Amino acid sequence: MRAGEALIRLAASRLTSHAEKPQQSKSETSTMTKVAFIGLGVMGFPMAGHLAAAGHDVTVYNRTPAKAEAWTGQHKGSAAASPREAAAGAEIVFSCVGNDDDLRSVILGGEGAFAEMGEGSILVDNTTASAEVARELAATGAESGIAFIDAPVSGGQAGAENGQLTVMCGGERAAFDRARPVIDAFARAVTLMGPVGAGQLTKMVNQICIAGLLQGLSEGMNFGQKAGLDMEKVIDVISKGAAQSWQMDNRAVTMCEGKFDFGFAVDWMRKDLGICLTEAQNNGARLPVTALVDQFYAQVQACGGNRWDTSSLMHLVAND
Ligand SMILES: NC(=O)c1ccc[n+]([C@@H]2O[C@H](COP(=O)([O-])OP(=O)(O)OC[C@H]3O[C@@H](n4cnc5c(N)ncnc54)[C@H](OP(=O)(O)O)[C@@H]3O)[C@@H](O)[C@H]2O)c1
Repeated sequence: MRAGEALIRLAASRLTSHAEKPQQSKSETSTMTKVAFIGLGVMGFPMAGHLAAAGHDVTVYNRTPAKAEAWTGQHKGSAAASPREAAAGAEIVFSCVGNDDDLRSVILGGEGAFAEMGEGSILVDNTTASAEVARELAATGAESGIAFIDAPVSGGQAGAENGQLTVMCGGERAAFDRARPVIDAFARAVTLMGPVGAGQLTKMVNQICIAGLLQGLSEGMNFGQKAGLDMEKVIDVISKGAAQSWQMDNRAVTMCEGKFDFGFAVDWMRKDLGICLTEAQNNGARLPVTALVDQFYAQVQACGGNRWDTSSLMHLVAND
């Protein structure tokens, strides 16, 4: 077997065992909740689908209506023409859009979800956003008796499709306890980390850990290739030791092959690292490696890699 073929087989087996677990069917919940879901992107589309499959009464909204039409074509539920309309009568409104400003535009203002949400309802925001916007929306919602939970997710597209996301929450215990059984529809772990903003801060820790790790993995893989080692054997051996990581298990092989046209996009990672760096200015944490890796990602963007996977740091070290 040629080395290239062996790497492809190893990559396929690793992707199956770690990132793309077979679709787990979740049983219908005994309590049906009226929910809205705003933002049917790569993540939101399947997450809303799991809510419908769990038996909840789902109304979706997407800025580009074709995605909402595609969703109602595949799932039980209805589509609304605005976030406000989608939120009408909902006990829980979910949002999963791009960044802080996108979030403000679908929640605040005349056509935003808050305009129609009633006292006692809950906004669960699954966007990766700043802790600051979480606190801002929580304070605005509280004026109308609306509870807010920041609930960013980890697990990627595969986790969203399989209903196996990890959800990091910030908010009041009472609202969390009400929302949690509903969030369970698309999650394998749902944890209350602390007050509003604590979910986003936890997600920042996650992204800081990943950034430095991916640069180290890129340098190690490139070093091994330059040394003329059999990288299939190297990955197999060292992934059984202290260097093991999710990134090594799921990305090392494709990195060695120079394949990056999948996965979590560099544009999203730069957005996330920008949030981390801003937060660090507030809390005084030193993030020298994160700041450096952020600049490496800027170079990947300059090479046209905006939508490449975050493992594309390898492209820079391999092509210097
Ligand atoms: N993809 C991942 O692997 C992953 C993993 C963890 C966390 N996340 C986070 O989850 C969030 C969503 O990611 P995604 O991959 O689903 O993104 P995506 O595929 O680009 O989808 C973004 C969604 O937000 C909507 N949207 C964006 N800006 C909007 C605005 N101003 N007004 C109304 N709707 C707006 C988009 O509507 P249109 O369809 O009209 O564009 C789309 O439905 C991001 O914060 C991301 O960082 C992503």
